[in-house]
Amino acid sequence: MEIVNTKAVGKIILMGEHSVVYGHYAIASPFYAILTDITLEKNPENIIISYDFNGRLEDIKQLIGFEMLIEYFNDKYGFNDFYKIKLNSNVPIKRGLGSSASIAVALSKSLFEIHNMDYTNQEIFELAMVSEKIFHSNPSGVDVEVIINENNILFSNKKKSQVIDSKLDAYLVVADTRLYGVTKDAVNDVNILYNSDEYYKNMIEELGEITIHAADNILNKDLVSLGKNMLKSHEILKNLTVSCQKLDKFVEIAMENNALGAKLTGSGRGGCMIALCQSLNIAENIAKKLALEEADTWISYLGDGYEKSCCKS
Ligand code: PMV
Repeated sequence: MEIVNTKAVGKIILMGEHSVVYGHYAIASPFYAILTDITLEKNPENIIISYDFNGRLEDIKQLIGFEMLIEYFNDKYGFNDFYKIKLNSNVPIKRGLGSSASIAVALSKSLFEIHNMDYTNQEIFELAMVSEKIFHSNPSGVDVEVIINENNILFSNKKKSQVIDSKLDAYLVVADTRLYGVTKDAVNDVNILYNSDEYYKNMIEELGEITIHAADNILNKDLVSLGKNMLKSHEILKNLTVSCQKLDKFVEIAMENNALGAKLTGSGRGGCMIALCQSLNIAENIAKKLALEEADTWISYLGDGYEKSCCKS
């Protein structure tokens, strides 16, 4: 095809960030409120046109992973082509909502499509992980997997991921601190702790166990226990040094205003907090309170598959 257009969603990690790097499960959901849109056409050199970046891909250090992804595709499938990438994304960067994975998935799909090739999810995963490894050094793959799947999943990099098929009559507030988190640094620092002391190794084990309990809570529709497990998970992530003042404050505000549970989501040290709420009234009130702290917020109903209906408040 001359020109192709592909889209990919953002993502939310409900439970299990960081411990998922060590082979434990994570629970992740597609986040439909935010979207990456890529239009791809062949060009004499790789260039990108976007809100934040314009120019030759190889000259933009922050985007070098995508240049490598294209090279990997060309080498593997025997092409020698270059492309113009028009990128339109409202996935905020460095907020734990999957911006790099979302671009990687949309770009990978568009490369197959421009060559009229069929592809499998496994092929998209392999390709998207090329840039993820460059951006995040040791990614578990949870972001890419959930964005490809567009389903709520229980993910482990050691086993095949499973779709969690459950509806919850509850709401999730997603609140963006507007602070950048750097996944690579947070993951590396946790790894230093993990290798330094059994105490931290046990915390990672515990995070893994809590995630399994949370999956059971979802299947049993036990919102109260799910909320408690979210809060426990936040406390452990805090001890692992990946929270920050603003995230802790957001969790506190959510809990003071009747959330069932709240925690950071993604790699932390900025990025977003999620709060589980029993009613829309509670969720709206929490979103209002968080807006006073300069949060950008979304509210999502969990009743029709996670994140199916979202609105920014
Ligand atoms: O990229 P983020 O911020 O959504 O973090 C991904 C989740 C981590 O567990 C922290 C890292 C990983 O590769 O799984």
